[in-house]
Amino acid sequence: MSTDAALILDRCDELATISSDPEHLVRVHLSPEHKAANELVATWMEQAGLSTWQDAAGNQCGRMEGSEPGLPALLLGSHIDTVPDAGRYDGMLGVLLAIAVVNRLPTNTLPFAVEVVAFSDEEGTRFGTALLGSRALAGTWDDDWWNLRDADGISLFEAFQDFGLDPARLPGAFRRPDDLIGYLEAHIEQGPYLEDADRRLAVVTSIAGARRFEFTMTGKAGHAGGTPYDRRKDALVGASELVIEIERLSKQQHVIGTVGKLEAFPGGVNVIPGRVEFSLDLRAEFDDDRDEALRLIDEAADEIARRRGLHFSKHEIYRADAVVCDLDLRAGIEAGIRTTGDDSPLAFWSRAGHDGMAVVAVTPIAMLFLRCKGGVSHHPDESVRASDVAAALDAYEAAVLALAQR
Ligand code: HGY
Ligand code: MN
Ligand code: MN
Repeated sequence: MSTDAALILDRCDELATISSDPEHLVRVHLSPEHKAANELVATWMEQAGLSTWQDAAGNQCGRMEGSEPGLPALLLGSHIDTVPDAGRYDGMLGVLLAIAVVNRLPTNTLPFAVEVVAFSDEEGTRFGTALLGSRALAGTWDDDWWNLRDADGISLFEAFQDFGLDPARLPGAFRRPDDLIGYLEAHIEQGPYLEDADRRLAVVTSIAGARRFEFTMTGKAGHAGGTPYDRRKDALVGASELVIEIERLSKQQHVIGTVGKLEAFPGGVNVIPGRVEFSLDLRAEFDDDRDEALRLIDEAADEIARRRGLHFSKHEIYRADAVVCDLDLRAGIEAGIRTTGDDSPLAFWSRAGHDGMAVVAVTPIAMLFLRCKGGVSHHPDESVRASDVAAALDAYEAAVLALAQR
């Protein structure tokens, strides 16, 4: 097995020990764990010959000059934040593959600089809105986000300051299109298609657009024993009916709808729930399909609420529309995959979201997928084969060299 792949997997294991919970992996934006992970990644970047800095948004960055100083950069990277109870490869593997590619590249000879970025917040776990690191790099920052609050009521603004960042200096993280020639990200597929096709690698055609909402179903709390059914306004039964309908409509409309969080209030075992707060994550290959499904879900919610004497409301917390990968960069990735002996690279759209959805605002993007066991992700059972990591590294290095030839 390639020692490079073994080193990458060891480093994923080391990063997985940096967690705010001893029982499972969780590392969120602007946390002490984020700072520790940035420092560790920075040392690995330096060992690979990159000069490093942390940008004004908390992204950990590294740069190797090309044949002359100051050339536009090819950006390689992924994210190092996680979902709760995460696997150790979603994001981190892509950052470590990028560092390993630079470690292999000839120093200061390419027609472009090469930069590696470890994005600070792809998942949105802490503040709900995702892609905060890559949106800063892309310059598509919305100042309303400063007032986002985490579960402890800490605002993004305060979290920046606690982390040692100055919100007023955030624009320092914005990159100019002329500074970049493109962004490549290697990532586990987080789905079963590669494994089902018995293939190791694929090139991504586009990334699904996603919208996330906080749903609220409001009824009337009451006594679990004394309240006859015909007088109940049970928010949880109403929400549950909508959750089932979301699955049915998503399958019918060929989109992907998921309710990941749900909480009933006041939360007593002998109290009819008066209010339920729950989430919707809705995504599709095409934004029109996603938005049509949302319209149907809205209609279903209103019908359920009317029939059950409830009130339904929703608040959008995140939106990233579908993006298409750049054909030239894709050709580089495909050339890279071919060097691994796969002469007809699989190409398909990513059901998972990625930082490229934000980076595309400032430079073209492309992605390399590698197989993950059972397609499992956002779960501690997430795993990859060392031989696939070795193939991905070879393909990624060859992709960069192929782009240097152009
Ligand atoms: O949700 C996603 O698709 C990504 O893993 N953040
Ligand atoms: Mn993820
Ligand atoms: Mn990811």
